[in-house]
Amino acid sequence: MTRHHALLRWVEENAALCKPSQVHWCDGSAEEYQEMCRRMVEGGTAETLNPELRPNSYLVRSEPVDVARVEDRTFICSQTPEEAGPTNNWADPEEMRQRLHTLFDGCMEGRTLYVIPFSMGPVGSPIAHIGVQITDSPYVVANMHIMTRVGTEVLEALGESGRFIPCLHSVGYPLRDGREDVAWPCDPDNRYIVHFPETYEIWSYGSGYGGNALLGKKCLALRIASVMARDEGWLAEHMLILKLTSPQGEVQYIAGAFPSACGKTNLAMLRPPMPGWKVETIGDDIAWMKVREDGRLYAINPEAGFFGVAPGTSYDSNANAMASLTHNCFFTNCARTPEGDVWWEEMTPEPPAQLTDWRGRPWTPGTPEPAAHPNARFTAPAHQCPVIAPEWNDPNGVPLDAIIFGGRRSDTIPLVQEARDWHHGVFLGSIMGSEKTAAAFGDLGALRRDPMAMLPFCGYNMADYFGHWLRFAEDEKLKLPRIYHVNWFRKDSNGRFIWPGFSDNARVLKWIFQRGQGAVEARPSPIGALPLPEDIDLSGLDLDATTLQQLLEFDAAGWQREVGLIREHYARFGTRLPDGLERELEHLEKAL
Ligand code: OXD
Ligand code: MN
Repeated sequence: MTRHHALLRWVEENAALCKPSQVHWCDGSAEEYQEMCRRMVEGGTAETLNPELRPNSYLVRSEPVDVARVEDRTFICSQTPEEAGPTNNWADPEEMRQRLHTLFDGCMEGRTLYVIPFSMGPVGSPIAHIGVQITDSPYVVANMHIMTRVGTEVLEALGESGRFIPCLHSVGYPLRDGREDVAWPCDPDNRYIVHFPETYEIWSYGSGYGGNALLGKKCLALRIASVMARDEGWLAEHMLILKLTSPQGEVQYIAGAFPSACGKTNLAMLRPPMPGWKVETIGDDIAWMKVREDGRLYAINPEAGFFGVAPGTSYDSNANAMASLTHNCFFTNCARTPEGDVWWEEMTPEPPAQLTDWRGRPWTPGTPEPAAHPNARFTAPAHQCPVIAPEWNDPNGVPLDAIIFGGRRSDTIPLVQEARDWHHGVFLGSIMGSEKTAAAFGDLGALRRDPMAMLPFCGYNMADYFGHWLRFAEDEKLKLPRIYHVNWFRKDSNGRFIWPGFSDNARVLKWIFQRGQGAVEARPSPIGALPLPEDIDLSGLDLDATTLQQLLEFDAAGWQREVGLIREHYARFGTRLPDGLERELEHLEKAL
């Protein structure tokens, strides 16, 4: 086990509170993983998929109300509401602690309490951090095995007094007074995803869904880590990391922030259509970045797996993701074929003639509701990705050459724009907007501002977060990455996408790469530098000159409207908004 007194005390205290019938310390072994799977199958939580089609893989159906992150039940409990800021739900920390104590009291009766020591990032990396999650869900244990580095090795790295982030989780379904267990225990009326930023603590109650229950991911690696990063001078971001290699063998590393379900996984794994270019994956969702002695920003992927959106993933849209999913995976809320495999919308051009849908009901083509839930997920080990970069496990991380921001915007925003400098880049990140997807509860399609794709994930006042980003420019010795904004989602007046997207996005990555080399010129505009049409490599792509022009133009009328919307967005932050951003906005207004 461990000689870490604070950890032992924390586990003892919480075992006394939650009153489980047993306590199990996870060692991260393959046997433990299999044992969790066995328990889930026995308890009806998971079904084994056909081992000839999908070896060592499982299908899980959640309760229909527990299928996504619950932003309205996610709380930042700082001392004052101002510290949480206008974009977070704040609750008084003392009141919240009392409420949580009441909920957690006896919440694991009749269950096993699992202690999961996990590392976010390669064990021992100077950028990594250790968490310990307590949970009563074998689904969480098995998925944490895939998504993080779990076990004894982590306890050793922690030693007797190392820092760990305590993460307490319960599905909130005690088996007291003879209550029978159910396939997906949860407590939908009492969901609380709670963060205490001053003490770096996480408490999550009532949900088993990944983003609410795998606490290493959104809760630790983004919400709490963003606070740690502010306190310690680094960055914890909702970003993919990729390695781009040119035909000449030159390498650049690019990180990209896109809101949930906007194609981070696809971009991180794409197969460029241009001969000789290669993309390899470092991470698909989260980047932790620290400045090293050489003044460059180095990034690690703190995760060890992919928890990706299944619908829309196919051999056409993301062959490397499909190849990562052939074995050793969990599938949550996907449909099942009669042969015992999984299926989801757009996996194949034609759906199978018969399926069992994500709620366990018979499904045939033409059924109005989708067979898989729109936010159905796969959990896959990162090392199974055929294009995982060898350095994805490098404890030192990779030096970033460029950072991309992007959202889902049907109009106004061009295919790509290059920030004039770091400040302007932070401005572009701060005004990011996106049309809403199924990753979180709410209306699909409505435009929401999602600065740096961190709206649901920033653990403190977003205005201060902008200030934290801006401060990196104060040190002139730093060699910071260049910043870009991209938009793959422009539509014409008939609502059709005018840019093919997916692997063709590599054409834009190539332009960014060549800009970094100083190999191509760009035209200045009020919103940053825009490509000359001839510099976007369109070989093998049927895209007419007018469409390309539309994609690359500066839409003055659209930006006039946009400025009004940015003013409204900024107004939320009041006087806390950094002057630097106010100046960028004034600069843009003048240039219009
Ligand atoms: C995710 C999300 O699961 O952003 O990655 O919702
Ligand atoms: Mn995400």
